[in-house]
Amino acid sequence: MDLDFDIRADFPVLDDETLVYLDTAATSLTPHRVLHKMNDYYRKYSANVHRGVYRLSHEATELYNDARRTVARLINAEEDEVVFTRGASNALNMVARMLAPYIQEGDEIITSELEHHSHFLPWQRIAKERGAKLIFVPLDQNGRIQLQAFKNVLSPRTRVVALTHVSNVMGYLTPIEKITELAHAHGAYVSVDAAQSVPHMEVDVKRIDCDFLAFSAHKMLGPTGFGILYGKRKHLDAFEPVEFGGDMVGIAEKDTLTYQKPPLKFETGTPPIAEAIGFAEAIDYLEEKGLETIREHEKRLAEYAHKALSGLEDVVIYNKDADAGIITFNLKGVHPHDVVTVLDDDNIALRAGHHCAQLVMQWLSVAATLRASFYLYNTRDDIDRLIESLKRARDFFKDAGL
Ligand SMILES: Cc1ncc(COP(=O)(O)O)c(C=O)c1O
Repeated sequence: MDLDFDIRADFPVLDDETLVYLDTAATSLTPHRVLHKMNDYYRKYSANVHRGVYRLSHEATELYNDARRTVARLINAEEDEVVFTRGASNALNMVARMLAPYIQEGDEIITSELEHHSHFLPWQRIAKERGAKLIFVPLDQNGRIQLQAFKNVLSPRTRVVALTHVSNVMGYLTPIEKITELAHAHGAYVSVDAAQSVPHMEVDVKRIDCDFLAFSAHKMLGPTGFGILYGKRKHLDAFEPVEFGGDMVGIAEKDTLTYQKPPLKFETGTPPIAEAIGFAEAIDYLEEKGLETIREHEKRLAEYAHKALSGLEDVVIYNKDADAGIITFNLKGVHPHDVVTVLDDDNIALRAGHHCAQLVMQWLSVAATLRASFYLYNTRDDIDRLIESLKRARDFFKDAGL
């Protein structure tokens, strides 16, 4: 089934018909439905959750709890395994902090050069604090994590495996189920950064069997500043919270406290209520369109874009066989920031920079790249416009002798 072209009408930012938005891997656009739902919270039942004994608070609490059920359904988790956070970065930092006390000197933490800073820097920090070693899975010649390479670095000292599910630069899918199985056989915990997978494909935490998994709402039509930490219930029961304050506590006395049951144990203070409710609406919308249909649509667009870009002189593509709708490339001899300045002039939004993934930039031996990323609202016309604008940028800088 194809996606309906009229989908664009669902997104107010695309009321500007000349806009080409190709930066979903950074942040997606938000449909009217999600905006209305969040607006309704502030206009109709704007009260705190889990506190008030009055109608408005009950209404807000009910919708807030429904949101958790919707997220749990999306990733096939249990409701009490879904922790609301301020985003993927916040969730991934929480995992590192939760596991830190269990890491001993000389233990090994396996990660990769594909990681976003938010899944690499917390572990770099914990490794330093605990005297552990960071081990990088060597990437194959295309920049992929292969199972054999992972097996080669796995050891009896491996305590944690922290890997991305889909790279935000290369768009490669990590063989995470097999990796998790092997890691567990060695007694290691597995933390998965799913910020680029959950928005674009069906992700089932029971099938992956990982210990923790994180993603953000704003990359899948939801609000900014909101994300999810999935944790296996036995871990959420066993591990200490990393933040303290209102809502997470059961009984507080001068020198002791008891915790609420998970997930509340890990949620401190007044939560992002409108955001949770808005995110559930975004998930409903995506499920109505069909995540597999969306993935097929992105795949077709990526193939079309690869073909068009490959035919363009002076374009270097770094991820020719990506599994996701992400194309990372450069125009030879022109800095990506200069390229996007020309593109912006044509009302095309494209990402340039290191994409918060400097290790993979170092692996590619470049300082920065261009990145086009697609979602359900993109069309072939967007790609045609991108190609025309890239030609203009290339010719402009060539003529200027730069
Ligand atoms: C792979 C990956 N992980 C983590 C993040 C961090 O997400 P957030 O900025 O929403 O915390 C991003 C965002 O770009 C990402 O692409």
